[in-house]
Formats: sequence, C-alpha cells, structure tokens
Amino acid sequence: MSSTGGERRLLVRDLAQVASPAGTAAPLRGGALGEVDVVEDAYVLSAGESIEAVGRMRDLPPLAGEIEEIDGRGLCAIPGLVDCHTHACFAGDRVEEFAQRAAGASYEELHAAGGGIMSTVRATRAAGEHALADAVRKHRRWMLRAGTTTFESKSGYGLDRETELASLRAVRAAGGVPTWLGAHAVPPEFEDADAYLDFALAEVLPAAAQIAEAADVFLERGAFDATQARRYLSACAAAGLAVRLHGDQFTEQGAVPIAIELGARSIDHLEATGDEGVAALGKSEVAAVLLPASALFLARPMPPARALVDAGAVVVLATDFNPGSAFCESLPIVCSLASTQLELTPAEALSACTVNAAHVLGRSDRLGRLAPGYDADLVLIEAPDWRYLAYHLGASLVAEIVLQGARAELG
Ligand code: NIG
Ligand code: FE
Repeated sequence: MSSTGGERRLLVRDLAQVASPAGTAAPLRGGALGEVDVVEDAYVLSAGESIEAVGRMRDLPPLAGEIEEIDGRGLCAIPGLVDCHTHACFAGDRVEEFAQRAAGASYEELHAAGGGIMSTVRATRAAGEHALADAVRKHRRWMLRAGTTTFESKSGYGLDRETELASLRAVRAAGGVPTWLGAHAVPPEFEDADAYLDFALAEVLPAAAQIAEAADVFLERGAFDATQARRYLSACAAAGLAVRLHGDQFTEQGAVPIAIELGARSIDHLEATGDEGVAALGKSEVAAVLLPASALFLARPMPPARALVDAGAVVVLATDFNPGSAFCESLPIVCSLASTQLELTPAEALSACTVNAAHVLGRSDRLGRLAPGYDADLVLIEAPDWRYLAYHLGASLVAEIVLQGARAELG
C-alpha cells in the first residue's frame, strides 16, 4: 500500500481493539444506535488528515515510504469524541455558589437572586477579549485531555454586543464551533426580556450570524418564555443560523413543539420531558441532546434516555460544561453516567457522543467514525476492551490523542 501524493502517514499498530459506530448512516436511531464494529488486534493508518485504512494486524499490507508509528499495545482506539453542547467561554468560577448549593440553596433560587448565570456574566464582561480567548484555550485543553477532539461552545455570558461577539470569536480562534446563545438570561440593564430581545436581534444578531453556526435560547421559567423563544429563534433562522434550544430543564414550557415547528437541530436537557414530548421527538428530526453531568451536578432527575431511544429519537450525549450547572468537561464520565443512570449501553453511549453529536454540528460526513475517508481524529484509551470508556468511572484513561492525523500535545 502506498499513499498518494507523498502525504504524511501515521500507523497506530497492535491495538487491542478498534471500536467505531457501524455503517455510514447519520444520525443513528433505535437499534442502530447500539451497533458498534469492533476489530481485535488492529491497526489504524492515516494519510494526511484522513483515515486511509482500519483492519486486523495480520491483514496489514507492506507499507512503502516514511511512516510514523504509535505502539498501540494495551490500548483501544475509538473515534475522537464530539462535545456538541458546552459553555466554555466564561471567566471566573462559581465555587462559592457550589458550596452554598451543597449547603442547601437551589440553583433556581440563586439565579432568581441575581447570582447564577448573572454572576458569570459580570466576570466575563470584566475579563476582556484576551483573557476570554485564554480561558477558551484552557478549557479546550481540558476537553482534549479527556478525549474531546471537536467541541461546540456557546456564548451567553456576555449579553452585550462587545462581549457576545468577543466570545464567539474566542471559540472560533480555539478551533471550536460557535453557537450564539444570545438569549441565555436577561441582563439587569434591560427592563424585561422583550426589551432585551429588541436590542439583541437588532444590534447583535447581524454580526453574530457572521461568526456563529447556530443560535440557542434558554426556554425556562425565569429566563425566556415560549413566545420570546420563537421570536428569537425565527429571527436567527432568517439570518441563516441553525437553531437549538435549552428546553425542559426544570419545567415543561412547550419547548418540544417549538423545536419541531422550527425544525431545530436539537433540543437540549429534557430532564423534565414527559411521555408526550418523548413520543413527539421519536417521530421528529430534532436531536435530543442529553446532559447527565448537569442533572448529576444539580441533583436533578435524569432525562428519559431509554424511552427516547426506544421511541426512535435521535439521542445525543454532551457535557454541558459550564461553571454553574456542570463543571465537568469529561465525555467519558458522561458515558459512564449514560450506562449507570440512563440505561444506555456503552455502545449506545459511544454513538451518541460521536456520530450523533457530529450530526448536530453538521459534520457527520467526516467526524464520528474510524473508517476510511473520515478525519483521522482518534482517542487511544488505556484498556483491554473499548467499553472501559464507560466502565472505568472517572479514570484518566486517555493515553494518546491523534488530531487530524498528528499526535496531539496533551500537556
Ligand atoms: O445549560 N440552563 C442554562 N444554561 C446552562 C447553565 C449556565 C450556568 O449556570 O452558568 C445549562 O445548564
Ligand atoms: Fe447548556
């Protein structure tokens, strides 16, 4: 086998297993979500930024030319993980609130008292563009060490023109996929949500639409209601953005019907979704992004994951990484929660944070699988069986990352 055009080649050899969601379809639903192909005693060969071949060591053909090698003994390869829902652009922290919540205060009470999201907004506005860009780069490093090779990040901690646009630029500069969460909370300088949306849609949307790929809204009691969410998302869709919603996190406020009506890419959270919402999502194209680390962090009920998969919904897993409701950047921990709390098999969890997450970001043609033609983004985990990804709870099992065909620096 010789590569075309003298591209740099990388051979990961003698892997215990290579695991990858089966087939080429995306998104995966129902029974197909749990179908993972496993090759034992395997190799992965990349040329340039793409995967050239995956197979058994005994079938590895003679390779001509210069080839870098990684010794995969004792390791399993899985596709680079895709985190399609984070809030990685923030300054400061909420450790004080975390301690208050541990002592009995609720997340919604802190939010209503002007803490919560607004306390991060104050810190983020004060940080300045350079510090924000540094923060996103630091968070990206944390994610990469945990196996995330592609991340989305929302803005939403600026809520003024300058900081929202700086946030979106910082996400893009760090290699992330930016989402404009212009409707996250109502900042105190506006009288009400409608007045804030008048400003955001007139003054921020035109520039945000040039940087972001999607728009998102927090549709919840104390944030934005159904009418406001529809107005915001319709304007964003008209400006060319894909639309997404934070819905049914604490209460059902009609987010599922709105997501379906607007043809949203996803509705995210769903901890409070009832049977009707589950059935509706089962018949729709809207992806159900589940965030069990957030439910765990806030000691809230878990979303109805099993029912959603069984109803045929496009089920996706993500971290929701943010300083308030989910200070957790680890998709392996999310996979562990999926298999211990959400009744999803390790195989379903893997597909949900690879192929299906790539679908939410509009990148499933090249991300989410280890197969010829896909991007050479690999996570090598220290394990005799790839299912340690979910099984080895809280472990630092990432031994090596390959990003676009090159070893990534994890330091
Ligand atoms: O997805 N619920 C709304 N937004 C975030 C939390 C943001 C925060 O608490 O800072 C979430 O959970
Ligand atoms: Fe979120």
